[in-house]
Amino acid sequence: MATGGRTMRFLMTGGAGYVGSACLRWLLKQGHEAYAFDDLSEGNAAAVPPDRLIQGSIHDRGAIEAALRDQRIDSVMHFAAVASVPDSIADPDTYWQVNLMGTKNVLDAMRACGVRTLLFSSTAATYSFDNPMPLTEASKLEPQVPYGTTKLAAERLIADYARAYDMGYTFLRYFNASGADPDGEFGEDRRSESHLIPLVLYAATGRRDEIKIFGGDWETRDGTCVRDYVHTDDLAQAHQLAAESLEPGMGRVFNVGNGQGTTVLEVVRGCEEVVGRPIPHQIVEPRPGDPGILIASPARLREELGWVPRFENIRDIVATAWEWSNRYPHGYESKHGD
Ligand SMILES: NC(=O)c1ccc[n+]([C@@H]2O[C@H](COP(=O)([O-])OP(=O)(O)OC[C@H]3O[C@@H](n4cnc5c(N)ncnc54)[C@H](O)[C@@H]3O)[C@@H](O)[C@H]2O)c1
Repeated sequence: MATGGRTMRFLMTGGAGYVGSACLRWLLKQGHEAYAFDDLSEGNAAAVPPDRLIQGSIHDRGAIEAALRDQRIDSVMHFAAVASVPDSIADPDTYWQVNLMGTKNVLDAMRACGVRTLLFSSTAATYSFDNPMPLTEASKLEPQVPYGTTKLAAERLIADYARAYDMGYTFLRYFNASGADPDGEFGEDRRSESHLIPLVLYAATGRRDEIKIFGGDWETRDGTCVRDYVHTDDLAQAHQLAAESLEPGMGRVFNVGNGQGTTVLEVVRGCEEVVGRPIPHQIVEPRPGDPGILIASPARLREELGWVPRFENIRDIVATAWEWSNRYPHGYESKHGD
């Protein structure tokens, strides 16, 4: 039985991806029913139980409708997206197709099937670079890169649908999702990795030569960028709390971050401590589209939903990622060889 007393049935687009699969496993542990709907373009079949995976694309509205009906879904969590800042600058066409038009397909399928609540994976990249830190949900929205623009456009589309068609939504604006399953069985493993912690650990294990740090002259403690790292289990808890309290007619927004800033060099040092040896790194030119500092205020999430994160320091987060990387040095591919 689910903790709130009512077992819910969720469809999770992108549910075989890094964050989606962590949320799916978490919801199953809490007694809910959850199914991943994923085209496996980035995700991994092995990240979710085999009977929980529906392979399909959010570009295929008929397939989404079939999944909603076949599994008698109560509510949707929409994770499926393309999510790399540099790729979005190089190829905005794909970003608008997947992140906006894909979201419209999900909403249209929900309408057709009478599913009226949606949790949407939004991002800190929707905020302006000019805001004071930490960012609250009232901070100015002004995305600077197509990734953020497409996510904000999807938020606006969802809000329009909700108003017109009596749906309810929650936007969870994540900061930097990080870490791995605390039991070391599941973790971060994409076809094309661009996230800091897995890349640092690749450099630690020789899977790549070194880690490049983009910019060393930011106005921060040590000149490198500051980000807010939130463990996937803590993100999953936020999804559970938000989903169990979501009703048609609601429109809510929550930042999901720890409220603490960590510099890139501090992440590298944290990884070195956990791994027990130096990790080769080099400071290079800053990357277009990167802000210097991003820190969340998670006050609303704590106060309104009672969210209590378990992983508040970077070393603990990195330790879970290292455990996974140590056990499965080639990610899910090595897991298949178990
Ligand atoms: N990872 C982060 O730090 C972070 C931060 C802010 C927001 N987000 C958002 O969270 C969500 C999940 O991110 P993630 O890090 O788990 O990424 P991910 O790439 O691991 O997961 C995305 C999943 O979507 C699937 N997908 C992509 N296109 C699809 C399509 N057309 N049809 C069906 N499935 C499709 C991929 O196969 C993948 O499994 C994304 O919406 C992302 O924008 C992530």
